[in-house]
Amino acid sequence: MKRTAVYPGMFDPVTHGHLDLADRGRRHYDRLILAVLRNDTKQPLFNLDERIALVREAVEGWSNVEVDSFDGLLVDYARSVDASVILRGIRVASDFEYEMQMAMMNRHLSPELETVFLVPTEAYSYVSSRLVREVAGLGGNVDNLVPANVSKALKQRFARD
Ligand code: PNS
Repeated sequence: MKRTAVYPGMFDPVTHGHLDLADRGRRHYDRLILAVLRNDTKQPLFNLDERIALVREAVEGWSNVEVDSFDGLLVDYARSVDASVILRGIRVASDFEYEMQMAMMNRHLSPELETVFLVPTEAYSYVSSRLVREVAGLGGNVDNLVPANVSKALKQRFARD
């Protein structure tokens, strides 16, 4: 049986931290789907199409990785793609509480779906999309924290403002 895992997130924008986690995750599953949340209530820096395009470019050539978007409950999306696992990363202790709450709620909603936590490489343990957006918006260099296409997109986005 094919084992499918879903790695969900806003990916606003995708960082080397996300990619490190996806690269680790894909070694354990036949198919890994990076599922980009639409979420119209948050005001993302990049719209859904842009976030998807940036993730797609970043994982180009990764044989068992797909990029998709979802809306609504994650457990419903996971069921629709036959996933048995939700993949998430825990970087630092402060991630733990939020991640546990989500994992418990998802288990409540869909007991057969397992959440698997992976630990990203130390080099990216402090990298978050929120900080990348903030630093890039203030003119700081994030080149080593995000793939080249994201770095370019950030420069264009903030040059325009
Ligand atoms: O990148 P993020 O913002 O940490 O990802 C959060 C995400 C997308 C995993 C979470 O917001 C989510 O799963 N949203 C979908 C709605 C849902 O299923 N909510 C209940 C889960 S507890």
